[in-house]
Amino acid sequence: MKKLIILTGAGISAESGLKTFRDSDGLWEGYDIEEVATPQGWRKNPALVQEFYNMRRKSVLEAQPNAAHHALVELENKYDVTIITQNIDDLHERAGSGKVEHLHGVIIRSQSDIDPTLTYPIDGWELKFGQLCELGSQLRPHVVWFGEDVPMIETAAKLCSEADIFMLIGTSLAVYPAAGLINYVPNYSPKYIIDPNIPKVRESALVHKIEAKATIGVPQVVAKLLAD
Ligand code: APR
Repeated sequence: MKKLIILTGAGISAESGLKTFRDSDGLWEGYDIEEVATPQGWRKNPALVQEFYNMRRKSVLEAQPNAAHHALVELENKYDVTIITQNIDDLHERAGSGKVEHLHGVIIRSQSDIDPTLTYPIDGWELKFGQLCELGSQLRPHVVWFGEDVPMIETAAKLCSEADIFMLIGTSLAVYPAAGLINYVPNYSPKYIIDPNIPKVRESALVHKIEAKATIGVPQVVAKLLAD
């Protein structure tokens, strides 16, 4: 089975009603990244950070996977598919995708403030400041903040280096190290980029740009890959 590696960003969940970060009216508009998405912000005002992620968690729980998430699941009939997502929602899993690696964590789990490898499911949408893990440390959202290491990056880079086919869906490629992953994909492997606003990538005859929203572009590419 050919290895198909798919890197997704906020754009794939936009049509599920979840805001992207850098489009106009993006998620960061109205929020100071330093305040809500850095370790310093957390130390300064943990209650505010919890509130911000509680609201996002509520939106995620209310959202449903869309046609793009569902189409990717069909690829598993023919390919060895791994999805690497920058998204902290769980819409790929809820659509039924088997292998999903979360580069930036997942909002429906919490983690220990002192040991990020200790993670726990959150019951419902609310994680309150003051809630402790079983070892007594403060719980925070299981999300990678700006300035923090991305523990999954080496696994992701290795997966990309083994890709026979690569897809990039709904990401501006503005945030490293995730944005650098495409450079690990072999030159000879076809790359499909689906985004209404195609990000800058190294040009090649094997780069196919599908300038479309995910719910239109992804099913088209999936149909082609299943027919090939
Ligand atoms: N379908 C597909 N793509 C879309 C759609 C859509 N309906 N709507 C918007 N997009 C595209 C935009 O054109 C843009 O290229 O999705 C991309 C969203 O880019 P960002 O908002 O920068 O999101 P992302 O690339 O996932 O951000 C990366 O930045 O803030 C951090 O940790 C956060 O994981 C996030 C990371």
